[in-house]
Amino acid sequence: MPIPLILDCDPGTDDALALFLAFASPELDLRAITVAGGNVGLPQTLPNALALTALARARVPVHAGADRPLLGDFRSAHDIHGADGLGGIVLPAGGPAAPDLAVDAIRRILRESADPVTLVGIGPATNLALALMAEPSLRARVAEIVLMTGAWGEGNITPGAEFNAWSDPEALAVLLRTGRPVTLVTLDLTAQALVTPAHLAAWRTRGGGTCLRAACDIQATVPASVRFDRQGAPLHDPCAVAWLLRPDLFGVQECHVEVDLGPGPSRGRTVIDRWGRRGLPANARVLTTLDADVFFTLLADRLASLP
Ligand code: RIB
Ligand code: CA
Repeated sequence: MPIPLILDCDPGTDDALALFLAFASPELDLRAITVAGGNVGLPQTLPNALALTALARARVPVHAGADRPLLGDFRSAHDIHGADGLGGIVLPAGGPAAPDLAVDAIRRILRESADPVTLVGIGPATNLALALMAEPSLRARVAEIVLMTGAWGEGNITPGAEFNAWSDPEALAVLLRTGRPVTLVTLDLTAQALVTPAHLAAWRTRGGGTCLRAACDIQATVPASVRFDRQGAPLHDPCAVAWLLRPDLFGVQECHVEVDLGPGPSRGRTVIDRWGRRGLPANARVLTTLDADVFFTLLADRLASLP
């Protein structure tokens, strides 16, 4: 049976490819897309999500959500995703957002679904946390929480923190305490999915349609990462969707994970206890390895299947 899921995002260049992958995967029953401010502000991420959904001709409602974290001010990542969030690649405008807000839509879908629903978060976790804080009884309706967030070590927005965790560490802490299965797709995992110009050139030869071309155009705007000798850019968010499609591509380790909620330079750091040194029970499944070749073939095949 297709996996019922809600995809919460902040499009975002890699969010765009994650959305396309989800739209192209019949294994998934995508009930809703919810949007937060993150890579860029909500005034950009929401229309981006609507445009990407329309481009794929996906019949999925898109809901506006939080424009800032649970605590503190909104901070973006313009340098990676551009001021518009899609690297300056202009798409035809999508349709209107769904009338109900993200938190209300998440709660309604969880409450009404015949089966438990998987929550996939590929942006700041504010919407997901707010929904489960507002109605704690709905936690029992959550099958799994899959989050692109955190890092074993070095961050990408500060030395200690990954962007999504750093953007709203309190929201991540809430999700880690729900008691439901949490799967973390960290920077160390996504570093294994390094997109190079050769990948994009190969994808473009696939033919495909507007979505494949848009995906390549958008991804081509992402600066090659200094962390990887400018060989390419890690493709973060599609890894979270791929976990649901092909869990066999991943290595896994159960760990206790805690988020630094302090005001200092390591705020938002995910403290992942690889060796159980703290003696605390594991509260997350951390993805450790990825078969990148199979992942990229899956992604390219699915992108090529879109309109
Ligand atoms: O750190 C990478 C994550 O932050 C990705 O989800 C990217 O889209 C940004 O949201
Ligand atoms: Ca994202």
